[in-house]
Amino acid sequence: MRPTVTQIRQLEADEFAAAGELGRLAFGGAPAAAPAIPAVPETPTAAPATPVPPPSGLTRYGAFDVDGRLVGKAVDLHHEQWWAGRRVVAADVAGVAVLPEARGRGVARSLLQELLRGAHAREAAVSALYPTVTEPYRRSGWEVTGALRAIDLPTVALPRPRPAPDLSVRPGGPEDLPAVADLYERIARHRSGLLTRRGGLFDQDPTPGALPDGVDGLTLVEQGGHLVGYASWERGRGYDQHAVLTVRDVLATTPEAARELVGVLASWHSVTPTVRLWPLAHDAIAAQLPLDQARQHEQRVWMHRPVDVARAVTSRGWPVQVRGRVEFALTDDVAPWNSGNWRLEVDGGSAELHRITEQPPLVLSVRGFALLYTGAANAYATVEAGLLHCPAGTDPGGLDLLGTAPRAELLDYF
Ligand SMILES: CC(C)(COP(=O)(O)OP(=O)(O)OC[C@H]1O[C@@H](n2cnc3c(N)ncnc32)[C@H](O)[C@@H]1OP(=O)(O)O)[C@@H](O)C(=O)NCCC(=O)NCCS
Repeated sequence: MRPTVTQIRQLEADEFAAAGELGRLAFGGAPAAAPAIPAVPETPTAAPATPVPPPSGLTRYGAFDVDGRLVGKAVDLHHEQWWAGRRVVAADVAGVAVLPEARGRGVARSLLQELLRGAHAREAAVSALYPTVTEPYRRSGWEVTGALRAIDLPTVALPRPRPAPDLSVRPGGPEDLPAVADLYERIARHRSGLLTRRGGLFDQDPTPGALPDGVDGLTLVEQGGHLVGYASWERGRGYDQHAVLTVRDVLATTPEAARELVGVLASWHSVTPTVRLWPLAHDAIAAQLPLDQARQHEQRVWMHRPVDVARAVTSRGWPVQVRGRVEFALTDDVAPWNSGNWRLEVDGGSAELHRITEQPPLVLSVRGFALLYTGAANAYATVEAGLLHCPAGTDPGGLDLLGTAPRAELLDYF
């Protein structure tokens, strides 16, 4: 049988359209708009258009068959994630699609392997993705470690506004977006896994001088002229029982600001009986919400894996009070540079991962590493899941050291 794929490489700019079409077919995107009929140039000798440089902030990979046909694609998004106060370079994966006729032959696996090699070469440490199907990614070392949940709340159940004397509330505009980004950062930086929303594609403002697509309004809460809370929202249509106010982001740095914001959302009860939002777990806003009345509107699980385990450990922050060391062997067939015997040492807010020669009793798979690193599971649960092997009588608990920071979360879908 002829090999399905003979080449995996980065796409050239003139191949982007073909990749876009592959993605459109795979995910059911809107047909590409018919290209405008170009006006006949006055002077046929017009200089050729200067080639458009590929946008920075992502790397597109393509898989080609023996006839040079594009049969698969995958995108490495050049993100950064916050991990306990430090920014960690991430190779987040999106747009994985294989031609139907080429599926089930290892194309996706080869693409993901090449993407990991490229990400390793550009010094990425971790990788997250939102799967439409988990198995192909589990086979390549990612594990399910969390979910982005949209919840619906009856607007009438939200606590009514009780304006605080020292806070002011006002509508925001595009000029307030830098302050909004700073407030997001103040909240995200101490957590684990949240995107920094800076650099790469985030620096390319698709709507200069306007609010981002899908945002009709921005509600700001200020104290002494400083931003202490914001909500970005989409009004939706109508005002009958089906009307929904969709809150893209709602964050606050104080309980008073959170109460003020939730009060503003409550004021929509007469026209939008439902408020839809994606709350962080256990933040100032969540503490104000009647979560007993929440209904899950949508859940998108996300998966995580280390691209480079040593970098994933050294480039992130660790809880300063945590101190310890543990030895383990790691297995990672798809990214063999991660495999080997390691000693993890955590102390004073930093950590190191050293290669060792001795064979430790604890043998951790890269999927098990993802579970522990993101705080999604502890060592015993990872053993039960078959992703950590330890001889009878050996206590795996030492590997809980890997998951001592807050459980990882994601607020952005990609
Ligand atoms: C999902 C998709 C990318 C898989 O591509 P593929 O080239 O067929 O996958 P591979 O042949 O490399 O499979 C890798 C492994 O995953 C498994 N796998 C692949 N697709 C699977 C599926 N839909 N369900 C369960 N397992 C699957 C394969 O059995 C293989 O396992 P193995 O290592 O034991 O042999 C492809 O089916 C596709 O393009 N689907 C439509 C778009 C889509 O859903 N993309 C994913 C976006 S997150």
